[in-house]
Amino acid sequence: MSFTIEPLRWGGALALTGSYFALCAGIWRAQRGKRAAAAAPADWLVVYASQTGNAEFLAQRSAELLATGGLDARAACISTLDAAALAAATQVLFIASTYGEGDAPDTAAPFAGRLMAAGAELRHLHYAVLALGDTSYTNYCGFGRAVDTWLAAQGATRLFERIDVDRGDPAALADWQHHVGRLAGTADAPDWEAPAYGDWRIGARTLLNPGSAGAPLYRLALLPAGAALPAWEAGDLAQVSPPSNPEHPREYSIASIPTEGRLDLLVRLQRRDDGTPGAASGWLCEDATGDDVIRLRLRAHERFRLGANARRPLIAIGNGSGLAGLRALLKARIDGGMHDNWLLFGERNRARDFLLRDELQGWVDAGRIARLDLAFSRDQAESVYVQDVLRAQAALVVEWIERGAAVYVCGSLQGMAGGVHEALGEVLGQETLDALAAGGRYRRDVY
Ligand SMILES: Cc1cc2nc3c(=O)[nH]c(=O)nc-3n(C[C@H](O)[C@H](O)[C@H](O)COP(=O)(O)OP(=O)(O)OC[C@H]3O[C@@H](n4cnc5c(N)ncnc54)[C@H](O)[C@@H]3O)c2cc1C
Ligand SMILES: Cc1cc2nc3c(=O)[nH]c(=O)nc-3n(C[C@H](O)[C@H](O)[C@H](O)COP(=O)(O)O)c2cc1C
Repeated sequence: MSFTIEPLRWGGALALTGSYFALCAGIWRAQRGKRAAAAAPADWLVVYASQTGNAEFLAQRSAELLATGGLDARAACISTLDAAALAAATQVLFIASTYGEGDAPDTAAPFAGRLMAAGAELRHLHYAVLALGDTSYTNYCGFGRAVDTWLAAQGATRLFERIDVDRGDPAALADWQHHVGRLAGTADAPDWEAPAYGDWRIGARTLLNPGSAGAPLYRLALLPAGAALPAWEAGDLAQVSPPSNPEHPREYSIASIPTEGRLDLLVRLQRRDDGTPGAASGWLCEDATGDDVIRLRLRAHERFRLGANARRPLIAIGNGSGLAGLRALLKARIDGGMHDNWLLFGERNRARDFLLRDELQGWVDAGRIARLDLAFSRDQAESVYVQDVLRAQAALVVEWIERGAAVYVCGSLQGMAGGVHEALGEVLGQETLDALAAGGRYRRDVY
C-alpha cells in the first residue's frame, strides 16, 4: 500500500514488454473469435451504440417488435459489427447515443475510428437511424447524425428519415416504434415504458467533505418507503426525478450493495452561475427531509457491472463523486473474498476531501485493498491527478494488466476520464487499450 507516487520504473516496464505483446495478441485473437460468433447473420440487425444502456434497451425492444411480425431480427452491440458483418447485412436499424462532446459511446470507438474512417461499399444496405441525445449539449445527437450521414455516403438506402430523441422524448420514441411496427407489418406494439419510479426516503445524509474548497458532497442512505429493498448489482445506476423538473430524471451511481440494507448515493451539490442549486442535487442535498418522498428507479448498468471480470484483479480509478460506483464494486468484491484491488482516487486536499477515509483506510489495513494511491491535486505546488499517478506507476499498471486485471473508471468526464484514457493509452499502448475496451476489461461510468 502506498500513499505516495513512486518514481517511474521504466526498466521494469521494458522488461515486461515482450510478454506483454504476447498478451495483446491473445486478447486480439479472443476478440476476433467473439466478433465472428456475435455477427452471425440475421435478416434484420438492430445495432446499438450505447453507454449507459438506453440505446441497448430500445434496440432489444425494436428487435422484439420486428420478431413479432415474423421477421428474423437480432439486436447486436456496435462493437460486434465489423466490415464483414456490415457487408453481409442487408437491413440494419442503428440506435446510437452520443457522449463527450458529440462523440461515440465507448463501445462504438472501433466502428467510429476504423470502419467509418476506412469507408465501405454499402449499396446493398437498407437502414434507419434512431439518434439519442440531449439538446443541452452543443453537438446534439452528433454520433447518430454522423452514422446516418456516413451510411448514406457509402451508398446505403434510408428506410425512413433519422429520428432524433431529446432526453428520451416519448413522442420521438413513439414515432420510431410506429416506423419499426410498419416494417414488421404489425400494429401490435407493446409498451416500451421504462420501469415506474418507486417511493424512497432519506434515512441519513452525511456531509463527506466539510470545509472543502470544492462543492459539498453528501452521502445519502436511501430506503424504500414501505417496501422491501429491491435487488441491484454493483455498477448500477439510480435515476432520481426531482420535483421541480420531474420530466428530466438525473442519474446517480449507486455506492452500496443490497446486503448493506440501504441504497447509498454520493451527491455533489451543484450550483448554477446565478447561485441557485441544481434541481436534483439541491433537492437531495438540501431541501428534502426524511419525511419527503424521493422518486427513484433503478437502472441496470450492464457495462459497469463486474460481470465476467469478477475473478480478475481490479484497477479502480476515479475522482470526486465517482468514488460512488467504485465503492460499490470494491464492496462487492471484498464481500466476495476478492482482495486483488487497486484503487486510484483523486480529489483536492487530503485534509478535507479524503472521502470515506476510515472505510478505505480500514480496507487497506485489513488487506482487502492491495494498493491505494491518492492524488490530492492541491496539496503540493504542482497539481497531481490520477492520470499522473498512472504514468508514475506505469510498470505496475502493465504488470496488473498482464496478470489479467480489468480497469474501471468512474467520475468526471471533463479532465479525469479523458486524462486517464490518454495516460492508459501511453502506458499500455492504444491498440492494447482498444482491445481491453472491446474485450470488456476497460469500462467507464463517466459523466
Ligand atoms: C451515468 C451518470 C452517473 C452520475 N453519477 C453521479 C454521482 O454519483 N454523483 C453526482 O453527484 N452526480 C452524478 N451524475 C450527475 C447527475 O446526474 C446530475 O447531472 C447532477 O447531480 C446535476 O444535476 P442537478 O439537477 O442538481 O443540476 P441541474 O439543475 O441539471 O444543473 C446542472 C448544471 O447545469 C447548468 N444549468 C442547468 N440549468 C441551468 C439554468 N437554468 N441556468 C444556468 N445553468 C444551468 C449549471 O451549470 C448546473 O450546475 C451522474 C451523471 C450520469 C450521466
Ligand atoms: C457525459 C455525457 C455526455 C453527453 N454528450 C452528449 C452530446 O454531446 N450530444 C448529445 O446529443 N447528447 C449527449 N449526451 C446525452 C446522451 O446521448 C443521452 O443521455 C442518451 O440517451 C444516452 O443513451 P445510452 O444510455 O444508450 O448511452 C451526453 C450524456 C452524458 C452523460
